[in-house]
Amino acid sequence: MENKKKSGFSGSIGFVLSAAGSAVGVGNIWRFPYLAAQDGGGLFILVYLILVLTFGFTLLTTDIAIGRRTQKNPMKAFASLHPKWDFLGKLTFLVPAIIMTYYSVIGGWILKYIAVFLTGQGVAAAQNGYFDSFISAPVAPVVFMLAFLAVTAFIVYSGVEKGVERFSKLVMPGLLVMILGISIFSLTLRHTDADGTVRTGLQGMAVYLIPDFSGLTLGRFLKILLDAMSQLFFSLSVAMGIMITYGTYVDKNVNLSHAISQIEIFDTGVALLAGAMIIPAIYVFSGTEGMTSGPGLMFVSLPKVFQAMGSLCTVLGVVFFVMVALAALTSSVSIMETLVASCMEMFHTTRKKMSLLIGLLSAGASTLICMGYNVLYFKVTLPNGTVGQLLDVMDYVSNSFLMPLISLLTCILVGWVIKPRWIAEEMESSGHIFRRKRMYGFMIRYAAPVILVILFLQSTGIL
Ligand code: PFF
Repeated sequence: MENKKKSGFSGSIGFVLSAAGSAVGVGNIWRFPYLAAQDGGGLFILVYLILVLTFGFTLLTTDIAIGRRTQKNPMKAFASLHPKWDFLGKLTFLVPAIIMTYYSVIGGWILKYIAVFLTGQGVAAAQNGYFDSFISAPVAPVVFMLAFLAVTAFIVYSGVEKGVERFSKLVMPGLLVMILGISIFSLTLRHTDADGTVRTGLQGMAVYLIPDFSGLTLGRFLKILLDAMSQLFFSLSVAMGIMITYGTYVDKNVNLSHAISQIEIFDTGVALLAGAMIIPAIYVFSGTEGMTSGPGLMFVSLPKVFQAMGSLCTVLGVVFFVMVALAALTSSVSIMETLVASCMEMFHTTRKKMSLLIGLLSAGASTLICMGYNVLYFKVTLPNGTVGQLLDVMDYVSNSFLMPLISLLTCILVGWVIKPRWIAEEMESSGHIFRRKRMYGFMIRYAAPVILVILFLQSTGIL
């Protein structure tokens, strides 16, 4: 931590790329498309975009400005804003701790698909049921999860995150180009069902992008809102302290408003493109029923797209999943780094010891999550109406319950205790204008708390 603080980011671009490296991960490529598809496409996208411009901007601004102004990590930053709010720093620690339990499970799924394409089994993976039979197997998902976790822990253990980050910055543009290329290809897809029904990629794109308000009830709207909000927290890595830590590294003369907009545009752009790559394709091959596949969506949809590409299937499959694995790795490293750095401070111990301990604890917890699809299988209906297994429960607790709660408390602290001016001063300290100052003040004091209370009550099943 100390070294990093000293080195900081040389300029705005370094900061934006590093924060985007943490933000862009499986949240964009795996979580966003399956939620958007599950919630019917266009309407989810519309709600999400409005949230990014209002909530996303407010929360990201708050976290980064707190970090840069206090120069403290989340465990101490809140206490320095107000001694009574020390507990909020501790609460933020829980989020990466919970996310860590399932992030590497998904990392493992990605590694499995690299192996699938490397060994030329891409066509088999395109068959219905392939993904389900993989995750419900007792051993394979655990082995792949452990491999992903071991790489993550090794990077944190040896303190070489910066090197990995630099490497991933080189890979990111490649990933973007591939996602764009696959999305365009998806538009050309066409499938005829046994009963003669024809579905095309263009129709799928319309489902993905055009909001359908028919049959919209208040309950359904609130569910979409909660899903979109949980996705926003997760994807932007806000309400979990991590962006406070990134804020401590930014140079004082960087224009934060500008940098924040860039992070938002980058993160949302990748998510939207990932949706365009996955959703029209699943619509073509499996119709609207396929769109409700949940967490498996990307792994069910993409092999079918690669198969449709014919002879390029194997090569594209390998390259694509390797790039996704790297994007996932930078994020999982930043999650584990947060945990290790906080624990090092709490227990006054070394990076190596803490990385080993957290690596082992995560391995135990993630093994349980993997078992949620076989030995520990159960079906639970979550308060927002979705039915899920252990992984979905953990995801729900961190993203739909804890994060709205943390954000609500942060809004009260910043909006009413230390006052928005405190943040605005930091935003303007570099000599740049904070253009959205009035909107920020309104959001943090009024709009965000009201909506977050409603969402919190909904997520707990009270509403
Ligand atoms: N924002 C990351 C993603 O979209 O995949 C996930 C994430 C990264 C969560 C870092 C938490 C974190 F500390």
